[in-house]
Amino acid sequence: MKVLVIGSGGREHALVWKIAQSPLVDKVFCAPGNPGTAQLGTNVNIAVDDLQGLLSFAKENGIELTVVGPELPLSLGIVDLFEKEGLKIFGARQNAAIIEASKAFSKDLMKKYHVPTAAYEVFTEVQPAIEFIDKTGIPIVIKADGLAAGKGVIIAQTRDEAVEAVTDMLSGNAFGAAGSRVVIEEFLKGEEASFLAFTDGKNIVPLASAQDHKAVFDGDKGPNTGGMGAYSPAPVVTKSIHDKAMAEVMRRTVDGMAAEGRPYRGVLYAGLMIDGGNVKTLEFNARFGDPECQPLLMRMKSDIVPILMAVASGDISGVEIEWHDKATVCVVLAAEGYPGDYRKGDVINGLDEAATIEDLVVFHAGTKASEAGIVTNGGRVLGVTALGATVKDAIDRAYAGVAKITWPGMHCRKDIGAKAMNR
Ligand code: AMP
Ligand code: GLY
Repeated sequence: MKVLVIGSGGREHALVWKIAQSPLVDKVFCAPGNPGTAQLGTNVNIAVDDLQGLLSFAKENGIELTVVGPELPLSLGIVDLFEKEGLKIFGARQNAAIIEASKAFSKDLMKKYHVPTAAYEVFTEVQPAIEFIDKTGIPIVIKADGLAAGKGVIIAQTRDEAVEAVTDMLSGNAFGAAGSRVVIEEFLKGEEASFLAFTDGKNIVPLASAQDHKAVFDGDKGPNTGGMGAYSPAPVVTKSIHDKAMAEVMRRTVDGMAAEGRPYRGVLYAGLMIDGGNVKTLEFNARFGDPECQPLLMRMKSDIVPILMAVASGDISGVEIEWHDKATVCVVLAAEGYPGDYRKGDVINGLDEAATIEDLVVFHAGTKASEAGIVTNGGRVLGVTALGATVKDAIDRAYAGVAKITWPGMHCRKDIGAKAMNR
């Protein structure tokens, strides 16, 4: 069959890489894709928010399954549009994708259905927000309500920082309309994990555990990014934490969404904060994490296509997922300046050398083909992802790949996976 993947990041390269391995698949398209997806399938120059263009392409080319990577087309209603036309599509419908598109919605949902999360309030005016900050004290967490590419969260360590963040967001200077409402919440300490599960709105099948590295610098220092690296499995997710996350977070959320008339079908991603034996939910995403998707799909032994098809068809009761009994680590290589304004157009050296390493895949994210070769074209440029017998092996292999690749101003964290080693 023919499959269309929507998106152009590292996550979508990983999806195309995994889908292309399925014996059920003859051809994979990616819209708009990147130079990595072009090596495995055919890129189609249609933007992720051009829903009509994507629909026409799928109809005209006999696409039997469309897989949505990023949140934007989900929140614009691409799944609803395709389903109305009788096309199979993997992803959350618009009224369910709001779980990511509005932090105020997701916090209210968690409160209503007793999903453990940080105490919070929602504000649209600066003055009451400042009063709440003064009442709660610091550190305190300020979140833009809407989509902000993983960067709309400020952990304020001083009152001034907190006041500046709410003032900037509510005045529309930071994050535009996405910041016209803010969630202010209690600071939670602990260790984070990314907990993903497939669901058809009723049944829940968890993926393997994973951990992201949000901050730009080693030791979780510096501003947050979309994610600087990830690995799987994450030992912080013990059996007991897994069971709690399933019962208190996933089950209550999936049932809550159904009760709200917003049945959730797709992959549900909970960002968890784990402290001692307790689990609290930081956020939900309506899609695979990026970069978590890269190490997760490299560890997935099962063919992903029947799973995605089952979700898209609304019944995953028969789905079981097999995982390699190995570890995977993905190190993100970023452009100079990221997560702020970053450089573009630098020629990337060493991609071919890195590709010779066994059990290693260099997933493309912000890259572009040019006459001079592959050049940087985004903040997160590559995700060097390796499989190893242990987390240590996977780390060593991934960084051996990283050592082969350079361009002016390239930076990456040197401690991806270190938390797993320290346990
Ligand atoms: P979110 O997009 O809501 O997951 O927030 C992005 C990142 O900010 C999370 O991955 C955490 O590292 C951090 N964060 C968010 N909320 C809190 C909180 N209440 N306490 C501590 N850290 C938080
Ligand atoms: N890696 C975090 C995210 O995808 O939101």
